[in-house]
Amino acid sequence: MGAPIIDKATQIEAAENTRLWERTPGSKELYAQAVGSMPMGVGSSFQAWEPYPVYLREGRGAHVWDVDGHEYLDFHNGFGCMVVGHAHPKVTEAIKRAARSGTHFAAPTETTVRFAEVLCERFGVDSVRFANSGTEATMSAIRVARAATGRDHIVKIEGSYHGHHDAVMFSVVPNAEHMGGREAPATTPMSKGIPAAMAEYTHVVPFNDLEVLRGLLAERGGDIACLILEPVMMNIGICQPQPGYLQALSDLLHAHGALLIFDEVKSGATIAYGGAAERYGVQPDLACWAKAICGGTPGAAFGGRADVMASIETGAAHQGTFNGNPLVAAAGLATLTEVLTPDAYEHLGDLGTRLADGCAKAIDEHGIPAHAVDLGAKGCVSYRPEPLTGYRDFLETTPELYLASYPWAMNRGIFMTPGDEEQWTISVQHTETDIDRYVDQFVEFCAALAP
Ligand SMILES: Cc1ncc(COP(=O)(O)O)c(C=O)c1O
Repeated sequence: MGAPIIDKATQIEAAENTRLWERTPGSKELYAQAVGSMPMGVGSSFQAWEPYPVYLREGRGAHVWDVDGHEYLDFHNGFGCMVVGHAHPKVTEAIKRAARSGTHFAAPTETTVRFAEVLCERFGVDSVRFANSGTEATMSAIRVARAATGRDHIVKIEGSYHGHHDAVMFSVVPNAEHMGGREAPATTPMSKGIPAAMAEYTHVVPFNDLEVLRGLLAERGGDIACLILEPVMMNIGICQPQPGYLQALSDLLHAHGALLIFDEVKSGATIAYGGAAERYGVQPDLACWAKAICGGTPGAAFGGRADVMASIETGAAHQGTFNGNPLVAAAGLATLTEVLTPDAYEHLGDLGTRLADGCAKAIDEHGIPAHAVDLGAKGCVSYRPEPLTGYRDFLETTPELYLASYPWAMNRGIFMTPGDEEQWTISVQHTETDIDRYVDQFVEFCAALAP
């Protein structure tokens, strides 16, 4: 790829950012206020953006409104939580009912029991426990895997994100100069404040690669409790497993007495009715779900094989004041049983294909070094011509093109995730017309970039 397209992207980024900043004085003002009470002016560092994020006021259906009153079609959808769309009447009604009858007891309720049954049935697991975020779900699943195997070490995939607890905050977005060779990826912390000794227990292997894991297991197999992975990587755009990879991974781990954990925090309830386990036909020993399963309320769960989950009954601590909270469980039940039904996935699949195909056509027509991915409610444009096979391919994408696309989309009424590691999320409340509005602005973007 030549430099001219990067020059054009850089010019577009500058012009579109200037326009975005002119259009959003209310966000700028709120940011100035917010930094007085929150680091970076946001409640979670993922929401920060330079020089300030766009602050939202309201969401309804497929739309959100910012504090300046601009309306956008929402393809960010709360980092993939809002597959139900905003203020869905069935979810809203369930929340209202639950609020009227008591929002928290820290005692089990009928709603919680029913929600657990629905999760077991949908994701094909024997039992589940609840959490309040994806972070807590992966943290607890790892605890259970360690307890069940009596081993301390874990393996994760280079470039995978599993939340912000210490064990998994390694090699999430490692710099090229710190990531080590492909055959022996380094374990590099993503954050300050993580004791260096933690690195001893977390090993890193590449995605879509069995050989490095095979070598590690041959050397340390007896120490390794589990491998945790996103069965489809969704924090580097989207990177799919190669055919046979997930099953081979499971077989290899089992041969060494280790367990397989699927982190379906993003994929569960978005890429198929039964998440990645259904879509790729592989059942892990344990799985974690969050984001889309509770209709925009802070709920999560993990679960799996009865014999593994039984370690909670024999000494693996799993606590949490709010776990299984009735308000969240009611929202989750309505989400999974009344909104995200099998029919919904047909609608989401059709819209997703319409969106990805529209983007792919524009990419082709204008010779943009990119490709589009279509995966149910999820999809993305990745600025590399060929699909990714792992994290190191993500480093070959062209961030300048993404950085131009973000304010371009925002200025044309498309609310998108800030960050090229993210992807779009379609909701059941999107229509074909909404999808075409996304595609239209993207076609114009490609035309503006084209040589
Ligand atoms: C794959 C994956 N796992 C875990 C998490 C952590 O979830 P949460 O932000 O709810 O703690 C995320 C968050 O983006 C994620 O993408």
